[in-house]
Amino acid sequence: MISKIATRTFASSAASAYKVSVLGAGGGIGQPLSLLLKLNHKVTDLSLYDLKGAPGVAADVSHIPTNSTVKGYEPEGLPEALKGSDVVVIPAGVPRKPGMTRDDLFNTNASIVRDLAKAIADHSPKAAILVISNPVNSTVPIVAEVLKSKGVYDPAKLFGVTTLDVLRASRFISEVAGTNPVNEKVTVVGGHSGVTIVPLLSQSNHKDLDTETRDALIHRIQFGGDEVVKAKNGAGSATLSMAQAGARFAGSVLDGLAGETDVVEPSFVDSPLFKDEGVDFFSSKVTLGPSGVKTVHPLGNLSGHEEELVKTAKDTLIKNIQKGVDFVKQNP
Ligand code: NAI
Repeated sequence: MISKIATRTFASSAASAYKVSVLGAGGGIGQPLSLLLKLNHKVTDLSLYDLKGAPGVAADVSHIPTNSTVKGYEPEGLPEALKGSDVVVIPAGVPRKPGMTRDDLFNTNASIVRDLAKAIADHSPKAAILVISNPVNSTVPIVAEVLKSKGVYDPAKLFGVTTLDVLRASRFISEVAGTNPVNEKVTVVGGHSGVTIVPLLSQSNHKDLDTETRDALIHRIQFGGDEVVKAKNGAGSATLSMAQAGARFAGSVLDGLAGETDVVEPSFVDSPLFKDEGVDFFSSKVTLGPSGVKTVHPLGNLSGHEEELVKTAKDTLIKNIQKGVDFVKQNP
């Protein structure tokens, strides 16, 4: 007899059938993300929406023999696409080209995300919302403001997806240390762009890196996205690694909804950690539960250098968050 030791326990009445919607499913991230979500057995209803191309993606992934139905929707189908969703993932919007920062995407993506948030508020107000569209530091506050204005904001159900920074940190530290990345866990806190990305190497397996190696590693984690933008040479930014990151995070949110315990991921959420300093959203480890965010974890012990990095991150985050809030106030 084969025996298996469960690493997570289950609540007895946990549901295990979930509707997940992907808004922007026809894009570079949306397509592989839809594929990976089709492989998640907790997803029983996969709803793919885009301005163009979603029915084709849906027909394609629907032939994979897992226990979910897949439907693709064009613009007029957005209400139907969202109805009854437990999780809505948003990778809609334009990606970077060489030389652009994530903030350069603000003008285009802010209104896309605002309008999708309005539709979510109207048609699936109870869904967990996972924002991939950049700049995440501003698009997450945009979604919060829209939901607040419609009286349906639940801070425990809104997430900025920073998982790609976590994946990169594991990969890059393993390249420096010559280890298997599968065994490298690095907590990344702050936000999701440049200096707001703060990997806590002092809490990793490799706390004693020399200063030069440490600084180069931190810089690579903070600006790893630029490597992909440059290599794609105008054809976009990370899509495949991002799809893996998005699928992992969505999987963890579903695990939490299903009542599994000890489901912990860093995410950019409405956070109590630095609210008294004016930082309303911050990424740190979050325990996920049946209602979304269960616990926002403090950062833990930081080195003096990490304290400085976190301070710099906070200063930038305050501005990024305010920009999102102001956008919704000025363009409701
Ligand atoms: P893409 O251009 O390949 O795909 C975007 C898709 O969004 C397109 O299919 C487009 O038709 C769709 N779209 C645009 N407006 C829409 C609307 N109003 N409703 C529904 N769909 C709409 O771009 P890609 O590479 O998939 O990137 C998407 C976003 O993800 C970008 O903003 C990018 O910066 C961001 N991103 C975020 C990362 C993260 O770590 N959070 C990592 C990499 C990219």
